[in-house]
Amino acid sequence: MPALVLLGAQWGDEGKGKATDLLGGSVDYVVRYQGGNNAGHTVVVGDQKYALHLLPSGILSPTCVPVIGNGVVVDPSVLLSELSGLNERGVDTSKLMISGNAHIITPYHVTVDKVTERFLGKRKIGTTGRGIGPTYADKINRVGIRVQDLYDESILTQKVEAALDVKNQMLTKLYNRRAIAIEQVVEELLGYAEKLAPYVADTVLVLNQALEEDKVVLFEGGQGTLLDIDHGTYPFVTSSNPTAGGACTGSGVGPTKITRVIGILKAYTTRVGAGPFPTELFDEDGAALRRIGGERGVTTGRDRRCGWFDAVIARYATRVNGLTDFFLTKLDVLTGWEQIPVCVAYEIDGKRVEELPYSQTDFHHAKPIYENLPGWSEDITKAKSFADLPKNAQDYVKALEEMSGAPISAIGVGPGRDETIEINSFL
Ligand code: IMP
Repeated sequence: MPALVLLGAQWGDEGKGKATDLLGGSVDYVVRYQGGNNAGHTVVVGDQKYALHLLPSGILSPTCVPVIGNGVVVDPSVLLSELSGLNERGVDTSKLMISGNAHIITPYHVTVDKVTERFLGKRKIGTTGRGIGPTYADKINRVGIRVQDLYDESILTQKVEAALDVKNQMLTKLYNRRAIAIEQVVEELLGYAEKLAPYVADTVLVLNQALEEDKVVLFEGGQGTLLDIDHGTYPFVTSSNPTAGGACTGSGVGPTKITRVIGILKAYTTRVGAGPFPTELFDEDGAALRRIGGERGVTTGRDRRCGWFDAVIARYATRVNGLTDFFLTKLDVLTGWEQIPVCVAYEIDGKRVEELPYSQTDFHHAKPIYENLPGWSEDITKAKSFADLPKNAQDYVKALEEMSGAPISAIGVGPGRDETIEINSFL
């Protein structure tokens, strides 16, 4: 019963789509367990490039069942347009399953996300503006709307009423906005019910039965470890648990069933939105990483902040997720630098610190301590095995592995599906 978790080991955008897709052919189920359409996977299949926000990347594999678990927040309009976009390109999406317990992002959640950010001014989080935080807030406050509510008009109306009660007061009295009409929201949501009905399923039962039947289940995390609501750089985080534990709560599969936890690790570091980022570069090197790495958000189109690899963060990701492996991505982007700095520890108030400080104040003051590793200039995009890499690239990978605390089992050397070196099989 192989159950693999694949998650971002940094601040998201590590190239998870490519890793999921590499496994696509041998995986029976690909499950998203948290987040919503704040995520963005770019998957390249042949000469076709697909940008997915909400759907699990397994949707592109004809033999795989894509699953949206209970921990995900679903914007039905985005889901339906993503599905029809794929259908137009000839992708069969009929196997998709959506948990009836997944929460729905309504237009009022998107409104609240945007006005809250505006209200926060310079203290804003830099959210994707997709309504993610307010939808999870309603879930925790027990005034959320779930997919299953679309099939009972009376319950749906009561729940929308309860949710809008306070929000309308807030919108009109605090934010100076118009109140949102309950009937309009109910009508819009009911309009999705029939279209979503073929996909709604008891995904907890389906996944547990699949594991009993020895099927391969892949849990695909959105965002990344440092954006986790509990373990990330709070408050500059997303509102869910991208870390490994989230795969269990967000899908209804118990921790004893998980066999492998793979952290996707970019060969350098990027971040979108606000918050601390010790190795961030404001110079030519940062601009070059952004340009060569194509570091622009798939979801928001925002430029990503770029910096050197941070081993302190990688070690933290190993610990907090119980990582068994790393998938190192975008190694090719570093080709051409004579020396590549790698952050091995931080200096905080004059002291050397080897591990991620638990205090936000300390992390904000952390200055990277770098070690320079020798670079390489050879094109590595055609490398098929570790031995094909130039010696300095091999040494860079080995150094990262040693500092990060888990074996690097695959290396991405280019954006294409086959531009990957597999060292240890994930299955
Ligand atoms: P939210 O998830 O829209 O609430 O945004 C919260 C923070 O997470 C912001 O800094 C976003 O830029 C960041 N974020 C959300 N989704 C992603 C992602 O898929 N990749 C990278 N950053 C993300």
